[in-house]
Amino acid sequence: MSFLIQPAPIARPNRCQLFGPASRPSLFEKQAKSEADVINIDLEDSVAPSDKDIARTNAIEAINDVDWGNKIVSVRINGLDTPYWYKDVVDLIEQAGDRIDQIMIPKAGNAKDIYAIDALVTSIEMAKRRKKTIRFEAIIETAAGLVNVNKIAAASPRMVALSLGAADYAASMGMATTGIGGTQSNYYMLTNDESRSAHFPDPWHHVSVAIVAACRTYGLLPVDGPFGDFSDDEGYLAQAKRSATLGMVGKWAIHPKQIAIANTVFTPSTENLAEARAILEAMSEATKTGSGAVTYKGKLIDMASIRQAEVIVKQAELIEKSYPLP
Ligand code: COA
Ligand code: MG
Repeated sequence: MSFLIQPAPIARPNRCQLFGPASRPSLFEKQAKSEADVINIDLEDSVAPSDKDIARTNAIEAINDVDWGNKIVSVRINGLDTPYWYKDVVDLIEQAGDRIDQIMIPKAGNAKDIYAIDALVTSIEMAKRRKKTIRFEAIIETAAGLVNVNKIAAASPRMVALSLGAADYAASMGMATTGIGGTQSNYYMLTNDESRSAHFPDPWHHVSVAIVAACRTYGLLPVDGPFGDFSDDEGYLAQAKRSATLGMVGKWAIHPKQIAIANTVFTPSTENLAEARAILEAMSEATKTGSGAVTYKGKLIDMASIRQAEVIVKQAELIEKSYPLP
């Protein structure tokens, strides 16, 4: 380990973030009653320009009036290139009560974007004598976001999470696709054998790993963003499993049917948890006898296996703490 210890992210389950447009208030109660850990009320791209003002009013009313239970409540504001964002921040922080936990900053391109919003939020918090500090999450969904992801992650102590926004990322990168996440039919390799069958690599891999690395370095939660085709449960499941394997802690849902899939993928399974505990047990026995590496089920395990197993055990304990088993 480096002399600089890797900071732990905020200790909370963040398996699923359920989105809903603030221009559709009939969804608020449904979001609150859902099984998602985080609720994102959207003022940005799911709201038409003509509805921006009413959406903002709806969001503030919903934060103040709806019983959000133990949910993390987040509002996605408009981007810094729009005429809307300053009013989003001012009205929200002035008028929404303490039930708002964080704001989501879309299309973050550099640390100054975060700094600008931080300065505004800080001033309003002081003016209104708000006791609860508003946290930030940002979306990496532009070429600049990818290039500056590390600086964005480190831009403010308010930062708690980064998400990948596949659709805007694809647009900003000039990718030849209109799909929101998942397999892209034109992104394939052919096998070298006679079958010449197609194999589909993951076009979201690089940016996902960049987000995970930035988050792990600066103590943020890495989150996978939307999967647009909500009729394709298997596609969503595969994407979520890939993200979990790469180190992400959760995924967005843009439709309620995606929540249970995310919760399952991002909750350590009984088998994985049992395996992780068995590895810790085996290593504990091994260190008693002075061994740093032993054979477990025919495979090498060593001190690094302890750290890997601890990731799974800690995640399970975190979830269990927030959602005790009946
Ligand atoms: N949150 C909570 N409940 C939702 C919901 C959401 N995001 N989306 C749909 N529902 C509810 C519907 O109200 C409906 O409830 P009912 O059975 O009580 O009538 C039920 O789930 C089934 O909905 P369905 O008819 O399949 O979908 P729809 O046509 O009403 O809405 C979308 C489809 C995609 C327009 C809608 O899901 C949506 O707006 N999603 C979020 C989009 C978003 O926020 N994008 C920004 C981030 S990428
Ligand atoms: Mg976007």
